[in-house]
Amino acid sequence: MTPPRRQPARRRTTALATVPVAVAALLGAAGPAAPGGTGGSGAGDPYFPLSGNGGYHVRHYGLTLRYDTASRRLDATAELSARATERLTRFDLDLKGLTVTAVTVDHRAAAFRRDGQELVVTPRRALRAGQPFRVRVAYHGTPKPVTDPDGSADGWIPTDDGAFVAGEPQGAMTWFPVNGHPKDKASYDFTITVPRGRTAVANGILLGQRTAHGRTTFRWRETQPMAAYLATATIGRFRVERYTTRDGIQVYNAVDAREARAAAPVLKRLPAVLEWESRLFGPYPFRAAGSIVDHAPDVGYALETQTRPLYDSAPTLDTLVHESAHQWFGDSVSLTAWKDIWLNEGFATYAEWLYAEQHGGDSAQRTFDALYARPAGDGLWAYPPGDPGSGARLFGTPVYARGAMALHELRRAVGDRDFLLILRSWAAGHRGGHGTTAQFVRLAEAKSGKPLKGLFQTWLYTPGKPNSA
Ligand code: TRP
Ligand code: ZN
Repeated sequence: MTPPRRQPARRRTTALATVPVAVAALLGAAGPAAPGGTGGSGAGDPYFPLSGNGGYHVRHYGLTLRYDTASRRLDATAELSARATERLTRFDLDLKGLTVTAVTVDHRAAAFRRDGQELVVTPRRALRAGQPFRVRVAYHGTPKPVTDPDGSADGWIPTDDGAFVAGEPQGAMTWFPVNGHPKDKASYDFTITVPRGRTAVANGILLGQRTAHGRTTFRWRETQPMAAYLATATIGRFRVERYTTRDGIQVYNAVDAREARAAAPVLKRLPAVLEWESRLFGPYPFRAAGSIVDHAPDVGYALETQTRPLYDSAPTLDTLVHESAHQWFGDSVSLTAWKDIWLNEGFATYAEWLYAEQHGGDSAQRTFDALYARPAGDGLWAYPPGDPGSGARLFGTPVYARGAMALHELRRAVGDRDFLLILRSWAAGHRGGHGTTAQFVRLAEAKSGKPLKGLFQTWLYTPGKPNSA
């Protein structure tokens, strides 16, 4: 077994190069819904003011992608089924780069223009509040990743044999027109055509694959609601393995040959990890599972892409446990605002601590103690995790490690039985939907019958090293 990590930190797999902060992205002309039924250019998240849009919800994305790995050119259409939440004379989608050639709304040509990362669409007739509508966007070009505020890349990241496609927090817009905020979850169909010999792996179930004229088309379907940043269409030369678990979960693993030896013993554990997590957190929320193990040495992180986590190299067992735990915490139960990121990362990190504790490693208490022993000047205490800020702090050590410490303090306050009850009812009660920190605190108080606001205030929101109870 891989030894449990002693120093929980952000789920990075390599050190970051220092890249200047993309300040401009944060200073965009954001905004609350403008008057006149335009929905506004953002979903109202102060961390990423232009991510997502107001005025409508998307229910389904149908993405048809054709990618030429040699020229790195993408030819695509996106068909969105949406519903207006207010009267709209126009609306925005997020799309960065790429060339749009045509937009229709309900099969009629619509006017459109590009404005930074916004694709502004003006349908021929205004949409009524509550009206369902379909948008079709034809586009092409060479997708490029975005640089996150912390200098890492996300979105469509070309590799030597395809592309590593990971959209957290804002990269979905680099490869499809999207309402790019986790508030708006949708189902997805993917039809991805790549040169023969390459494999295209997306989320959910593989409906079929067909090779003709030197190209292979893969059809994938994710029926469960999914946040856009969790969508993938990763392409490479992969070895594929498929099987169904005892619980009836369809597993699809895609592994780059260069990572296969190191990955094999870890991937073998996936069914056992999912079973163990199901015992703790409640039933696995999806029908499909698996892993994509790419060889993408420049990426530096893994992502909990829904149903099928994506690794930039062979994962360690604790990384597999972490990304698997996200399927409950982050994927099934999603954020409504990026400031609540500890609900994803603190929980997935705490799953690693629990896994170690129950598999012959350190107890969670010991992991907590080792962290708590760090001096007040340590980076762990640099800021509280409950509203970390959008820059490099979003995926910083306080979010992962102090976020997990907050859960450990909760466990100590309410006892093991109630703690697991709280985690399970959180996963069950918000399954396929969303949850906020305030809702989690209320649930913890309700299930335990104890006042807990002070504990969370201390561990999530109070600057400096907290006093431990
Ligand atoms: N959410 C990922 C994990 O913890 C980490 C991650 C995804 C990340 N995208 C990122 C970290 C961008 C830093 C920057 O499993
Ligand atoms: Zn994580």
